[in-house]
Amino acid sequence: MENIGKIPFNYEWRNRWIIIKEFIQNPVKEIWFLRDKFKVSELYTGLAKRDRDLNNPNIPQWLNFGYWQEETTYNGACAALARKLGEIAELSPKDQVLDVGFGFAEQDILWMRENNVGAITGINTTEIQVEIAKERVARAGLAEQINLQVGSATEMPFAENSFDKVTALECAFHFNTREDFFAEAVRVLRPGGKLALADCLPRVGREINFWLRVNSNKMCIPFANQYDQHIYVEKLKKHGFLNIQAIPISEYVFPAAVHYFTQVGQQISKHDIAIDLQKDNPGIEAWSRDRGWFMAFDDYVLFSGEKPN
Ligand SMILES: C[S@@+](CC[C@H](N)C(=O)[O-])C[C@H]1O[C@@H](n2cnc3c(N)ncnc32)[C@H](O)[C@@H]1O
Repeated sequence: MENIGKIPFNYEWRNRWIIIKEFIQNPVKEIWFLRDKFKVSELYTGLAKRDRDLNNPNIPQWLNFGYWQEETTYNGACAALARKLGEIAELSPKDQVLDVGFGFAEQDILWMRENNVGAITGINTTEIQVEIAKERVARAGLAEQINLQVGSATEMPFAENSFDKVTALECAFHFNTREDFFAEAVRVLRPGGKLALADCLPRVGREINFWLRVNSNKMCIPFANQYDQHIYVEKLKKHGFLNIQAIPISEYVFPAAVHYFTQVGQQISKHDIAIDLQKDNPGIEAWSRDRGWFMAFDDYVLFSGEKPN
């Protein structure tokens, strides 16, 4: 308990140092990342190919930062974040859900089991993830209820008024652009339907500088998506959404997630790392004071909005 509020390192300099170090270690790879044409599916295909557990059906394949309010392991925190989004979306058995950017469909399996939703359709641009996700869904006995396909959030292959809910768990920052996705989401939702997102963004007042630009490129985030939560809400309104909610959850995401990712790659398996929620969390105030950011982000918000009836 006595460690609460203590800052283990200066986040801003730590982040800058990581960028510089990665450039010195592998300039060719880093220049490859900075190409304008670098695609998000290349990023996730590379990650998948490096994962030794990719074909192990017993190991979850979550790909988000997690919600670390009570959970102390990565898989537990990722599932908790999916549950949070399910709550905001008010998932129910009558829902036809479109889940965009589903990764390996872990959240779809969870929502089907825990929320018993009517049916889920998923689209994702990364082919290898779609392939593996389909196998995992079939193994879970859910192939009838969860239909996954390759497709883009900004050009959806669906007719208007097709879904009750559209969900995007930690992926809309990648879309080119996020606003084009809002336009597609409002089109495919039925009147009264709901869009729910768990999304990363720059916090209010963050300086838009060189480091943010470099990191955005490396993380395949179109620079047009780098705006704060107030502008985000305005853009949802502009696209016709009503009853918009914005729930900030950074304090339960970044500080613990950073400690988790710092330990990944060290001796212990990433699935066995346990975070000490007291000792390993300096608190969001310390994090903000020291201009903490992580993989280009420093704010995490759950958003929702409804299509007018
Ligand atoms: C950070 S991962 C999140 C995966 C999953 N939602 C989870 O929480 O485990 C981002 C996902 O978005 C997908 N993605 C990125 N751009 C996309 C687009 N334009 N359309 C559909 N999916 C996209 C990626 O392939 C990847 O699966």
